[in-house]
Amino acid sequence: MTTAPAIRVKGVEKSYKELHVLRGVDLTVERGSIFALLGSNGAGKTTLVRILSTLLRADGGTASVDGVDVATQPGNVREAISLTGQFAAVDEILSGRENLMLVARLRHLKDPGAIADELLNRFSLTDAGGRKVATFSGGMRRRLDIAMSLIGDPPVIFLDEPTTGLDPEARIEVWEAVKDLAGRGTTVLLTTQYLDEAEQLADRIAILHQGRIIVNGTLAELKALLPPAEVEYVEKQPSLEDIFFAVVGDTGGNNKSSTAGQGTREHKTRSTKG
Ligand SMILES: Nc1ncnc2c1ncn2[C@@H]1O[C@H](COP(=O)(O)OP(=O)(O)OP(=O)(O)O)[C@@H](O)[C@H]1O
Ligand SMILES: [Mg+2]
Repeated sequence: MTTAPAIRVKGVEKSYKELHVLRGVDLTVERGSIFALLGSNGAGKTTLVRILSTLLRADGGTASVDGVDVATQPGNVREAISLTGQFAAVDEILSGRENLMLVARLRHLKDPGAIADELLNRFSLTDAGGRKVATFSGGMRRRLDIAMSLIGDPPVIFLDEPTTGLDPEARIEVWEAVKDLAGRGTTVLLTTQYLDEAEQLADRIAILHQGRIIVNGTLAELKALLPPAEVEYVEKQPSLEDIFFAVVGDTGGNNKSSTAGQGTREHKTRSTKG
């Protein structure tokens, strides 16, 4: 056992030919925490995740995962991690259950069938589990992909934009699954373009911009960077998500998470300039 942080990145640089994407990235992720890496399209989030998951070599700097250097001991890093990439990596020909069993077998676990059934249940895929993945919706694939990455309980999980393209209900299911993981002691580094996702999930949030981490802190610390908010009473307009849950209500899907309306506020706050 090591007491090193789950992830430590120091001065990491990466270029693709003349394109200098990462220009000295520093960050630390504590064990058992959820860390959200925010950044716009092309900021380099996936590039950093690929370096940390040993799929890509950095040009400079150092990075370690679970106390192990990614450049010198990539094999040991791979034993400690699992990666759910930005694009679902599931086998179309196999059923959902078969995909899960395949990973359980590859990880040499006992009773792959039971592992598959437990995960299908946890991700509300029990009914669809016997169907070929080719017939799954985007959200179902995404949930299956995440479920596959949980097999074997790796201590560190990378989720690259885990909820992009999901409907609000599926997003909440994924959020619950991520929270559950962290509750079990798994370290999660996720990338996202959604501030609300980072707000919901993350213990710490960092923003990658022009090759560097320009902000890194807890949500409260990040909010403190803005000018003080002024309370302004406005008529509350429902968000599309509120409407979605009001209409779909109890009949929507088979999950029981009732976090509907969580994003709504009694009144909105708006920061003032000057
Ligand atoms: N293999 C590659 N060869 C050349 N350029 C690349 C390669 N991979 C990424 N890039 C470029 O590097 C930059 C960062 O890409 P990256 O995929 O890391 O961004 P990202 O933050 O994950 O973006 P997104 O939010 O769109 O997923 C982009 O400008 C991209 O075009
Ligand atoms: Mg990306």
